[in-house]
Amino acid sequence: MDNPMQAHGGHGITRFRPSDPDAPFGDGISPFLEKAHAPIFEEKVLSDLPVEGEVPRDLNGVYLRNGPNQQVKPLKAYHWFDGDGMLHAAHFDRGKVTYRNRWIRTDAFENERAAQVAKYYSVFESNKDNKKRPLKDSANTDIVFQGGKGIALWYLAGDPYEFDPLTLDTIGKTDFSVRANLKVSAHAKVDEDTDELLFFDYEAEYPYMTYGVVGPDGKMKHSTPIVLPGPRLPHDMGITKKHSILHDLPLYQDMDAWRTGRHKIVFNPDLPSRFAVVPRYGDADSIRWFEAEPCFMYHVVNCWDEDDAVVMVGCRYGMSTDKDKVAKAIANLAMDAKLYKWRFDLKTGRTTEGPIERAMNLEFPTSPTALNGKRTRYSYCVTMVEDPVPRFSGIVKHDMHTGAFTAFSEGHGVYYSEPWFAPSDSRRSEDDGYVVAFAYNQPKDRSELHVFDAREIGRGPRCRITIPTRVPAGFHATWVKASQMKGR
Ligand SMILES: [Fe+2]
Repeated sequence: MDNPMQAHGGHGITRFRPSDPDAPFGDGISPFLEKAHAPIFEEKVLSDLPVEGEVPRDLNGVYLRNGPNQQVKPLKAYHWFDGDGMLHAAHFDRGKVTYRNRWIRTDAFENERAAQVAKYYSVFESNKDNKKRPLKDSANTDIVFQGGKGIALWYLAGDPYEFDPLTLDTIGKTDFSVRANLKVSAHAKVDEDTDELLFFDYEAEYPYMTYGVVGPDGKMKHSTPIVLPGPRLPHDMGITKKHSILHDLPLYQDMDAWRTGRHKIVFNPDLPSRFAVVPRYGDADSIRWFEAEPCFMYHVVNCWDEDDAVVMVGCRYGMSTDKDKVAKAIANLAMDAKLYKWRFDLKTGRTTEGPIERAMNLEFPTSPTALNGKRTRYSYCVTMVEDPVPRFSGIVKHDMHTGAFTAFSEGHGVYYSEPWFAPSDSRRSEDDGYVVAFAYNQPKDRSELHVFDAREIGRGPRCRITIPTRVPAGFHATWVKASQMKGR
């Protein structure tokens, strides 16, 4: 066979054909539409891919990654957060790998697909509640797997969309969110022991946040309002086996800008950070609020119960005393985060906190999904560079017990997706398995899929699989074990 890469079952749905694939809508609109971030316009299924090294046969499941992939030329401005959600998947099956990509068929995607022109504004120009200048609810941020289905989520709290984790076909909006008239933020959490989905919705109106629990049957089990002092911009939450942790951080919309339809954020270091520790099925009266030093955080690494306390580890911002600098850095995704630990003492009501690691700027942290809410030792993160927009230049494994870290980078011009821990079929210890990530090689304009031995990240990928298309830079990922998909 001349070409070992077989393409089959592709959809190729878009009528748009860019003359310059590296800047498909023309130069100068936004660096988030060029090079490693440039969208692609074909939906493909590719198998029999060239492999350097050997694909482990005890790695079975699917690596799923979400991210923005703008379908039509933007109206004016464009931010990385604005693009239509596209799913990319690498399905590992007894040593063979199949790559797929598909847009998520959100209402907004279908609307713009039919019109073939942009209907929505950038977060630079609008806010979520602006009827005159609508913002696109794109499901482009995060992925969880629960109840036998993938669910794509949006960071400003939008409609969660279910999809098939193998075909990537969109199934539709989740039944529980439609029935309850709730939106769901990115970073809902799944307890794999109970297959419950724990989520939060947040909004500009009182009570500003709602917390909920969905059962494995997809039905809402519990929900409760989380009353905040005003509208906030939380990004993540934590769970333990007993509690959920919701964030009230001193980062919020500039309300004068909001009223004129603009999205501008303010960091107020005069306010404390507050964390709501709620029993999993707790009501508003059972919330325990803990104050901490003012900060912002995008991402939680993991949380767990420990004696009479709840522990949360995350990537914390706000070490700088320059509040405008902090707000700008957060708005522009200029990551400057440190691994940090909070301990909420349920007996005394006090918080103790401090950095775990001071030297490295680490973000997009992950830990094994099966250990959500249980004490973990390792986290897998990316290192960030500005080039001129944020890119994931390397992968780091951090050991919370010893403080040691191991890291790997291919060097300048090769940028990773969020890495995810993929357990071996017979996992016997926390890091018995692999770490999987897409890597975009900008000089060669092609992507690869890298599989690391999770115990030996520093040795580099155990295998590199060529993906003969660009997998544009994106946001969050997950891993679904083959055993979780049985009976689909
Ligand atoms: Fe995120």
